[in-house]
Amino acid sequence: MRDILLRDIWYFAAFASDIKAGKMQRIFICGDPIVLGRTKKGDVFALRDVCPHRAAMLSTGRQVEEEDGSTSVECPYHGWRMGVRTGGCKHIPALVEDSKFEYQRLGAPAYPVAEVKGTIWIYMPEDPKRFDGKPALPPPSLANAVCDAPKMTVVAQAEGPYDETVIGLVDPAHTTFVHQQWFWRRPKDAKEKIKHYEPSSLGFRMKAHPPSTNARAYKLIGGALTTEIEFALPGLRYETIRNEKHTILSFTAITPHEEGHSSINHMVFWDMPLLSVVKPFIYPLAVRFLRQDGKILSEQNENLKRFDHKMKYVEDADRLAGWYMQTKQAYRQAREQDQPFVSPIEEATLRWRT
Ligand code: FES
Ligand SMILES: [Fe+2]
Repeated sequence: MRDILLRDIWYFAAFASDIKAGKMQRIFICGDPIVLGRTKKGDVFALRDVCPHRAAMLSTGRQVEEEDGSTSVECPYHGWRMGVRTGGCKHIPALVEDSKFEYQRLGAPAYPVAEVKGTIWIYMPEDPKRFDGKPALPPPSLANAVCDAPKMTVVAQAEGPYDETVIGLVDPAHTTFVHQQWFWRRPKDAKEKIKHYEPSSLGFRMKAHPPSTNARAYKLIGGALTTEIEFALPGLRYETIRNEKHTILSFTAITPHEEGHSSINHMVFWDMPLLSVVKPFIYPLAVRFLRQDGKILSEQNENLKRFDHKMKYVEDADRLAGWYMQTKQAYRQAREQDQPFVSPIEEATLRWRT
């Protein structure tokens, strides 16, 4: 089963604090090799990590300042220099002084990058080599993030098809079994749930409601709580928890790296001093939570890799999986027809037991 990945959309690439000034690293998104770096002045950039000359990795080269004050990446093989903003070639050291060779026409494709509240996003064009530099949509704004950068981050690796990893994010029925912990619900406590959904700009949203009485973790926060959960393409989940005074955004972004390999990037933004105090206690729990997802996905993948299987989607508990596939399909269609994307999901009430 080969992944069909959305293009012309933004993917979470890294936490801003991991990309230091003057440094570069090689990453993969949707299978594309990318050198992700930050100039000494602090600007992030992303270029295809393949030198246009003879394919060396730009990420193992170095950054150099050009006379005009801009920054280039110098290839470690023969020293070609590519400007970080457009990827255009700025210099070929082996050319003689009076050479007429138009090196400016060569270069490494540049990917749009955005830094938003301590996170770095890369826009993956349909064809980076033919891209006009204009993204089809703005990067995620993380509007409900109430602080400048996440206060807690956890990353887990996941093996398996990208779609399955994303479905694991929206699937309500696995939580009772995969995430059995003292602070969360247990299977025997399962209750019937009624949830109201509406379309959102890049997917669908579970309308704000008081959290379930069998989700013990919420009791720590106190006050008149509401939670609102939104799913957005390509694989983003926003859970906003509010009481009268405070907002917590628990945000997860799943990024496909290479075929069959994704990362689950979880981060929490808050403005509640109490959470900062208890962070040392909740952090290991969050790590365990994500590893539980990673483990079940790898086990599922063992089977998917080796045996044919037709997935079953049963009633409302599996409805969101279908909605995700439908939303993704609609996005691809909108891009193919060069039309604005409109979520195909309609308002609905779903019922399940968790
Ligand atoms: S391969 Fe990069 S300069 Fe030759
Ligand atoms: Fe999970």
